[in-house]
Amino acid sequence: MEVRVLKDYASLSSAAAEIVIDLVRRKPDCVLTLPSGGTPIGMYEALVRAYDEGRVDFSKITLFDLDTYAFLSDADPRSNYSYLMKHFAGKVNLDPARWLRLDGAGERAAERAAGYEREIALAGGLDLAVIGIGHNGHIAYNEPGSSFESRTRLVELAGSTKSANARFVSSPDEVPAHGLTMGVGTMMDAREIVMLASGEGKAAIVARMVEGPVSEDVPATALRLHQRSLVILDQDAARRLSGEPTLL
Ligand code: PGA
Repeated sequence: MEVRVLKDYASLSSAAAEIVIDLVRRKPDCVLTLPSGGTPIGMYEALVRAYDEGRVDFSKITLFDLDTYAFLSDADPRSNYSYLMKHFAGKVNLDPARWLRLDGAGERAAERAAGYEREIALAGGLDLAVIGIGHNGHIAYNEPGSSFESRTRLVELAGSTKSANARFVSSPDEVPAHGLTMGVGTMMDAREIVMLASGEGKAAIVARMVEGPVSEDVPATALRLHQRSLVILDQDAARRLSGEPTLL
C-alpha cells in the first residue's frame, strides 16, 4: 500500500480524477466502481470538467455501484442513483446500459446482491475501485467486523455511519438502517484500489489504518494486503501519522 499526502482537498481531488482519466484513456472499456459521500465530490467536479473539455470519454466504461442504501427508490434523493446522477453520471456520457446498479433492488435486495458478483466477473472484474473510509474504518458499507473475504450483500449500518451520514439529510431519522455493499473481498479483487481521505476528522482512523494492526476490526486495513492500493490524503487527514510524511 502506497500513501501519498497532498497539500489540500483540491490537490487530492484532482489527483484522484487524473488517475481515473488516465485509466479511461488507456482502457476506454475499463470497469470501475466509484464512491459516494462528501469526500469524492471534488473528484467528480474534476472529472466532469475534464469531460467538458473533451479530455475524456466515458461512453465505454462499465460502472458498478460500490454501495447504496437499501430499499430506496431511484427517485429518492438519498439513493446512490440520485447522488451519482447529480455529481457524475448525469453530467457525462456514461452509457446507462453500462451502469450496473445495486439500487432499485427493493424487496429483492439480497438476491440482487448475490447476482452482482456474477455481473462483476462477467464484465472481466474491476480494473479500479475508488473508495473512501468511514470514521470507524469502514470501506463501502463494510462495518467493523466485516470479513476480508466478504462479498456483495445486504448489511445493517453501524450507528456511527448513520450519525456521520445524517449531515446529508434533514433529520438523523432519515438515514436508512440498511445498505447494500460490495464486500471487502469484492474490492480486494479489483486490480487497483484508490482510497481518498480528507480532513482532520479522518486523521485518527487514517493513522489506525496505516500504522495499526491489520484487522477486520478496521476493514480498511485490508488495503495493506493489496498489491496495488494507493491512499491519497490531504495534510489534515495525514496529521496523526507518525513521522514526517513526504508532501507531494
Ligand atoms: P465521506 O464518507 O466521504 O462522506 O466522509 C466516506 C465513507 O463513509 O466511506
